[in-house]
Amino acid sequence: MGRIRDPSLSERGRRQIEWAERHMPVLLRIRSRFARETPLEGVKIGACLHVTKETAALVRTLEAGGAEVCLAASNPLSTQDDVAAALSEGGTDVYAWRGQTEEEYRWAIDMVIRSGPNVTMDDGGDLTVAIHEAGAAEGVWGGTEETTTGVIRIRALEREGRLAYPVVAVNNAATKWDFDNVYGTGQSALDGIIRATNILLAGKRVVVAGYGHVGRGIAARARGMGARVIVTEVDPVQALRAVMDGYDVMPMSEAARVGDVFVTATGNVDVLRGEHFAVMRDGAVLANAGHFDVEISVGEIREAAREVRRVRPNLEEYVMPDGRRIYLLAEGRLVNLVAAEGHPSEVMDISFANQALAVERLVAERGRLQPRVIGVPPEVDREIASLKLESMGISIDKLSPEQEAYLRSWR
Ligand SMILES: NC(=O)c1ccc[n+]([C@@H]2O[C@H](COP(=O)([O-])OP(=O)(O)OC[C@H]3O[C@@H](n4cnc5c(N)ncnc54)[C@H](O)[C@@H]3O)[C@@H](O)[C@H]2O)c1
Repeated sequence: MGRIRDPSLSERGRRQIEWAERHMPVLLRIRSRFARETPLEGVKIGACLHVTKETAALVRTLEAGGAEVCLAASNPLSTQDDVAAALSEGGTDVYAWRGQTEEEYRWAIDMVIRSGPNVTMDDGGDLTVAIHEAGAAEGVWGGTEETTTGVIRIRALEREGRLAYPVVAVNNAATKWDFDNVYGTGQSALDGIIRATNILLAGKRVVVAGYGHVGRGIAARARGMGARVIVTEVDPVQALRAVMDGYDVMPMSEAARVGDVFVTATGNVDVLRGEHFAVMRDGAVLANAGHFDVEISVGEIREAAREVRRVRPNLEEYVMPDGRRIYLLAEGRLVNLVAAEGHPSEVMDISFANQALAVERLVAERGRLQPRVIGVPPEVDREIASLKLESMGISIDKLSPEQEAYLRSWR
């Protein structure tokens, strides 16, 4: 079952997955235990995740634990067709191909719902929201959510008293949010910008909108490549942090006039919009690293342009009425997943270790958890971090009994 682009790509996909797995030792350790203990025997998992080689490594881990997985993509443009082919050949029901229309994207999510999942895994909240809208939550024991925007949406459901089952906010685990979003997106967003444009970042003025986890990572990596980084923010604490980290901070209305490259990382709508396009320099490059394609008002730039042309893959040129040209990457969708390959495997190793353990917990505790957004316990964070350090050959100090007693005492 399933629907993918081209089954003949499976051999290439298998090699990609093998390459990813080489860099995912923590997940592989969990896989060995799952294979021995089969904690997910007979469990149906419905997943809506970016179909990348790292996601394939996660799916194989869940299957080793005894689960049956039905997978749709969490973005119409992020699927790696070779990986989808390899997974499908291995027996996973995959409904994903790169370049889905909006309608096909929704259809694929619907197929996951129809597979009757006991546990859902989501990246961005589209599957969870679709299940709630369809009134199809009855057989679902629990779910997981991979990204900041998804957690925000599911918290909104919870606030309205409409969340029908417990959802683990995997995104908010320390070993996810402080690593994947920071180092993963930091590197892969620049990778996407470079693959799409091949411009030199040294000396460029790179404007990063949002100085949260993702924005911090992108700003640091852009600076590392010699860019002059400007940060825009709406939160005074985050803005102050950016100032003290040594960046120029200003409103977007000012940054728009001077930036060469713009990267949005806010999880918010219309961060770059008509008034900004109107004052940008000729040649400005726009990229989005936030979850949805809403941060750059693509509609407004299309409306304003007198001509649109595809220059290279993932790079569109918009000619403004006064002749200035503005370049939009990846149609305003996640630049790191559309124009590059998403996060490197090493960081997805710990994100997906969290996912695998969260699924195991939802299965073990089914029926006992409230329909709330729940966190990853700190001891799981510590275990994942310890395993990662161990796999890197790094050891750390231990508290002595005296030190432990000192830290416990009020004296
Ligand atoms: N591309 C990827 O692979 C990837 C990976 C992880 C997260 N994400 C997505 O990236 C987005 C950001 O995630 P995060 O973890 O950094 O969230 P975060 O909450 O840590 O940071 C978001 C920041 O944006 C700021 N902000 C909000 N509106 C703004 C505006 N109009 N102008 C300037 N700043 C504004 C907030 O004050 C906050 O500091 C989310 O949509 C998340 O789902 C993408």
